[in-house]
Amino acid sequence: MALYQIVLTLVVLLALVAGGSALQCNCTNCERTGFECETDGACMASTFISQGKEEHVRICIAREHLVPPGQPFYCLSAEGLLNTHCCYEDYCNSVDLKAPVPRKGDGWSGTWGPVELVAVIAGPVFLMCVVLMGGVFLFQYHQRAYSHRQRLDVEDPSCDHLYLAKDKTLQDLIYDMSTSGSGSGLPLFVQRTVARTIVLQEIIGKGRFGEVWRGKWRGGDVAVKIFSSREERSWFREAEIYQTIMLRHDNILGFIAADNKDNGTWTQLWLVSDYHEHGSLFDYLNHYSVTIEGMIKLALSAASGLAHLHMEILGTQGKPGIAHRDLKSKNILVKKNGMCAIADLGLAVRHESITDTIDIAPNQRVGTKRYMAPEVLDETINMKHFDSFKCADIYALGLVYWEVARRCNTGGIHEEYQLPYFDLVPSDPSIEEMRKVVCDQRLRPNVPNWWQSYESLRVMGKIMRECWYANGAARLTALRIKKTLSQLSVDEDVKM
Ligand SMILES: *[C@@H]1O[C@H](CO)[C@@H](O)[C@H](O)[C@H]1NC(C)=O
Repeated sequence: MALYQIVLTLVVLLALVAGGSALQCNCTNCERTGFECETDGACMASTFISQGKEEHVRICIAREHLVPPGQPFYCLSAEGLLNTHCCYEDYCNSVDLKAPVPRKGDGWSGTWGPVELVAVIAGPVFLMCVVLMGGVFLFQYHQRAYSHRQRLDVEDPSCDHLYLAKDKTLQDLIYDMSTSGSGSGLPLFVQRTVARTIVLQEIIGKGRFGEVWRGKWRGGDVAVKIFSSREERSWFREAEIYQTIMLRHDNILGFIAADNKDNGTWTQLWLVSDYHEHGSLFDYLNHYSVTIEGMIKLALSAASGLAHLHMEILGTQGKPGIAHRDLKSKNILVKKNGMCAIADLGLAVRHESITDTIDIAPNQRVGTKRYMAPEVLDETINMKHFDSFKCADIYALGLVYWEVARRCNTGGIHEEYQLPYFDLVPSDPSIEEMRKVVCDQRLRPNVPNWWQSYESLRVMGKIMRECWYANGAARLTALRIKKTLSQLSVDEDVKM
């Protein structure tokens, strides 16, 4: 095995050194470039069975992703799930790999009759009952000596099969967990198993932390945010915030799994979440204008998500108040049904109300300069007071509403997409440039007069102004905005 690894490593290195020039591969997701791609790394082919059909994926793997050498993470097969093959010659991934042979008793590729279904459901339930009864008996018998061991048993990965029955989709899994568990998501070992059986498909974004990919898990799409190992703290923080109990909400991006695969020399950090094909609100508004109904849906759902994030729920099944601190149209996703999902919680802070403290020392000025509230720009924000962070979020929400309202199509008129303050500051403005405009000159994005002639735009304009007060405490709350917009959606007969 060791020799095999060394040989493989040599082949990779030789290919990289000798080649120098780029490698051409077949690519199943590259319509635009004639189903081909170019890479400095390897060609990859992967075959798996999805809903009874054999699927072939062929992609390029960049050299920087060929880690660890010998057995790159991206080139691994998973027994019974997918066959993967990496190679280093032009179009060498044109091969048709054999589909993985399902493991014994593995029915997820076939169709099930009612008898099998009953057996599959009743079997584990019966087993679980027996195990539980045995467990209860043992527990009582050894109560004192066992209190420590027992916790470890719960985390034992051999329980995988209870959660990962092969016919379950992610939605089922997450639903199971949020109704029976703590409401914070899948247990860690399930997250790990899910993450390690995802097939990456195409890159859909790049950010300061790393990359975002679209991946497949059991035939469904998922989004995978891959952090560079330098960004371990951001990865950990974002995973931690997403797993705050009771955070799940229709208008907050659905978290699925976090995984860190450590090979001794190198760590691959993944954050897996729901996938939304429309992408961010920023992309969406750039492509499409919206109707009045569409605008109300986007605005109300964003306010609902933010209200849930901000809200503190008391009790054992409660949640702490959370402030986002980097709200902007690029960090809000648009779902298929035209509603928003708030994403990118990596900079968020949580409020511990019992001790009235904030869970991490918040550094002064994080987030995106263009969306920073006046008190953040001039550093007068009171960081000991959690509500100040909520007020700063509201200011940013007002800017997002302005971006949406400009794209609202009324009587054939809508404006082109623009970022807030596009006419007052250069692209990528400095803090100083923003401070001059927002604090010294007290300027805000322009709310055109003609908005007054349409009830919904009039209401949106009024909300924006009340989000933009220089005094944070005078701004509306997310809950108030949500109520105002709910009323508007009723008046305008919008079906939510
Ligand atoms: C791979 O690409 C080559 C060159 O474009 C093409 O001839 C071949 O048919 C492709 N293979 C598959 C399986 O698409």
